[in-house]
Amino acid sequence: MILAITSALLSLGACTTAVNNDEKNETAGNADGANAVIENIMTRTSIRQYKEQPVEQEKIDIMLKAAMAAPTAVNLQPWHFIVITDKETIGKLAGRQPTNAPLLIALCGDTDKTVMPDGKMKLPDFWVQDVSAATENLLLAAHALGLGAVWTGCYPAMERVDEVSKVLNCPKNIVPLAVVRIGYPDESPEPKNKFKEENISYNTFGGKKE
Ligand SMILES: Cc1cc2nc3c(=O)[nH]c(=O)nc-3n(C[C@H](O)[C@H](O)[C@H](O)COP(=O)(O)O)c2cc1C
Repeated sequence: MILAITSALLSLGACTTAVNNDEKNETAGNADGANAVIENIMTRTSIRQYKEQPVEQEKIDIMLKAAMAAPTAVNLQPWHFIVITDKETIGKLAGRQPTNAPLLIALCGDTDKTVMPDGKMKLPDFWVQDVSAATENLLLAAHALGLGAVWTGCYPAMERVDEVSKVLNCPKNIVPLAVVRIGYPDESPEPKNKFKEENISYNTFGGKKE
């Protein structure tokens, strides 16, 4: 499967660091691969205007694989992803921000999956971090595939959670954390430079770099 994903990414001109459980990361430690990954991270920016062109299913599959490659606490993978291409449903999810995105993906926590299989340990709140990691992976994959995307927040804004859950017919255990809007970009904003030395300490809070 890794070969299929990697060749799909290669043929799309994207970076080549896709992996799954079956095979090794072929580009780990490779300087060109590392540069491509860092470049992809540094050039991602939120895109909110999209062309009409639909997103190919192959690209949707790659984004979902990237999302599910994210780390999760005790590897519980407490998530569910809802892919939305139906125009009417997209309209209903617009909230206060109408969108012309041809594709939305709702990234949800699955609270039924926050208990260890032996039932001994409960990790009730870690799903938020797990699904956030998946959301960032998905945004980065979208960018690598030539798509534009923006994270729109749901959880913990319960009003929005209820609104999105209702439209998507989610059972109680499925909690929308984010709805990512995705499409071919119809704008090209500059990535923001957010690096600030003042946000970093060394060894203890306020400690300086040696
Ligand atoms: C938790 C979260 C919620 C967000 N919600 C929204 C939103 O509701 N609407 C929106 O247009 N952008 C939303 N964003 C995108 C941010 O506005 C954007 O990431 C931020 O301005 C930085 O810009 P950048 O993504 O281009 O680096 C959200 C981002 C995060 C991480």
